[in-house]
Amino acid sequence: MSPGLAIVTGAGRGLGREVALSLAKAGWTVVMACRNPAAARLARDELVALSGSPRIEVMELDLASLASVRAFAAAFLAQGRRLDALVNNAGITSRERRLSPDGHELVVATNYLGPCLLSLLLLPALGKDSRVVNLTSNIHGWGAYRLDSLDSHAWVRAYAVSKLCVLISSLALARALEARGVTVNAVHPGVVNTGIMFTGRWYDIVIDALLRPLYVGVPEGGQAISRLVLDPALAGVTGAYFSGLRRKRPSALAGGPAKGRALLEATAEILGPDAIAALASLS
Ligand SMILES: NC(=O)c1ccc[n+]([C@@H]2O[C@H](COP(=O)([O-])OP(=O)(O)OC[C@H]3O[C@@H](n4cnc5c(N)ncnc54)[C@H](OP(=O)(O)O)[C@@H]3O)[C@@H](O)[C@H]2O)c1
Repeated sequence: MSPGLAIVTGAGRGLGREVALSLAKAGWTVVMACRNPAAARLARDELVALSGSPRIEVMELDLASLASVRAFAAAFLAQGRRLDALVNNAGITSRERRLSPDGHELVVATNYLGPCLLSLLLLPALGKDSRVVNLTSNIHGWGAYRLDSLDSHAWVRAYAVSKLCVLISSLALARALEARGVTVNAVHPGVVNTGIMFTGRWYDIVIDALLRPLYVGVPEGGQAISRLVLDPALAGVTGAYFSGLRRKRPSALAGGPAKGRALLEATAEILGPDAIAALASLS
């Protein structure tokens, strides 16, 4: 894909930083959408030095806060720029059950509700051949949920539910955006030792021992994501789930079009009138 403009959420460290670097090296303008602008500006300076590209910007975005998502989307749309790629990368796990400023369970709020609202609100900036890339996990197969209690879980279960919701909504948005020529794909980047699975407790050592045989490096995990933006061979590929570099069949929990539509509609109800209107614009 020829270089354009990409938003990468959580681009200050971990896989998001790696993706931002790859895109900048490939000549893309990168908007780093980060919740801590001061830290992100330091990361930006490093990425400018490493990539040789000055076209890396920082905008503030806290995905756990729907108000922050709305403010970010409004600020970006006000710039009138076309969005060629949206990489919904940022994500968390949490050992404790915590609530977002909007009263939702924090992991589902950060990993699913915020990014879903972001994608819906940024629809006006996406055009033919724009690509949306959503970060899921192979743990989505543990994420059975009920529509009326999406955010009632904790820790691993909450993470799995959030990643199943990301996957199902990704497939559903892909179908809804097909006529516009916007592609939407989901990727599990591999098990990457970025620290996201650690809890700050004694049993981190056990988690590390269990995951160690599975680890792939940050560059490898980052490539699994960035190629979904960069690879010309993937032009027109949409509604796919990738694990690393390989296209895979998702867990049976992903269901079909009816489940996808039901999830998007229930989510829009949770998110509010702007999300409901954005979703209706796709019907
Ligand atoms: N690593 C793995 O093994 C693995 C496997 C499967 C899927 N994934 C997915 O890959 C994505 C990246 O994970 P990672 O391994 O790179 O994790 P990471 O190193 O912990 O990085 C997470 C990123 O998300 C950002 N973030 C967290 N909460 C945010 C919020 N409320 N608003 C905006 N940004 C926020 C963080 O920003 P701060 O610097 O401000 O905290 C950080 O930049 C996640 O979606 C994760 O679920 C990772």
